[in-house]
Amino acid sequence: MDVEAQDHRDSPQPARARGRVLSIANQKGGVGKTTTAVSLSAALAQVPLRVLLIDLDPQGNATSGVGVRGEHCAATVYDVIVDDTPIEDAVEPTSVRNLFLVPATIDLAGAEIELVSAFSREQKLRRALEGVREDFDLIIIDCPPSLGLLTVNALTAADGVLVPIQCEYYALEGLGALRRNAELIENNLNPGLEITGFVLTMHDGRTRLSQQVVEEVKEHFGERVFQTRIPRSVRLAEAPSYGQPITVFDPGSRGSVAYHRLATEVITRLGVGNSTRDQSGEHVDTQEVQS
Ligand SMILES: Nc1ncnc2c1ncn2[C@@H]1O[C@H](COP(=O)(O)OP(=O)(O)OP(=O)(O)O)[C@@H](O)[C@H]1O
Ligand SMILES: [Mg+2]
Repeated sequence: MDVEAQDHRDSPQPARARGRVLSIANQKGGVGKTTTAVSLSAALAQVPLRVLLIDLDPQGNATSGVGVRGEHCAATVYDVIVDDTPIEDAVEPTSVRNLFLVPATIDLAGAEIELVSAFSREQKLRRALEGVREDFDLIIIDCPPSLGLLTVNALTAADGVLVPIQCEYYALEGLGALRRNAELIENNLNPGLEITGFVLTMHDGRTRLSQQVVEEVKEHFGERVFQTRIPRSVRLAEAPSYGQPITVFDPGSRGSVAYHRLATEVITRLGVGNSTRDQSGEHVDTQEVQS
């Protein structure tokens, strides 16, 4: 679709900032990356900010999580990074206003091998995003549970990394490798890369284990830990099977409220919000909104 079309009006448009790119990464499986990518994207879209969610996992959970069937889409992220299809051709609208998706299907599983001999294979996504960065306030990338070439592409394309940490035993396992990889990418491929923050997921305040993990993570990462903790909640686990982000599926639930709070923290840390959009999607000055 033509992602510009929605914003073209008769009056001249204000100058756009380049959209900030946030990758959601942790090579550990099942820690809440996709739940965070989908729920945070939907909460940010409600601000309202114009958000592009990129599913970079062959499991396609972010795609189905916003109610899109990847196999029915004209193009997916695979076509973008392997065949150099313009990313605009792979951008799909979702049922959430201001939230757009670049879908993934299982085809993406072959991409790491197919890209082995490709020129600048680590920069494929970064280059593709150049085409749409000005159309969105924020671009959120859901990474697969590995540190392979797909995650390297996500970190090379990103301004920031958000790391979900599940409140369980061995919560910190593997985080050293993730930080070392982020440093390597910062030194060699993407000097602008920063760790935006660590968010504790599936937190249950009644258990000693959750409290211990919170203390341990804070000891390690201090100020970098988001104040918002995502509670363990059945509603969050149920939402994907309805193809709806939690903010739509159960807007008043604890999980939805937590992701709205996290969205506010992310906006502050990434410095998004010098301008924002009103309900019609038009840019407005934040100062005007507040006064
Ligand atoms: N806060 C939560 N409360 C309860 N269940 C949750 C919560 N967050 C995630 N889940 C559930 O835990 C499982 C793993 O979550 P999710 O798919 O978000 O993790 P992931 O890190 O993306 O996994 P993968 O590494 O396989 O991509 C899912 O079934 C999800 O619905
Ligand atoms: Mg996932």
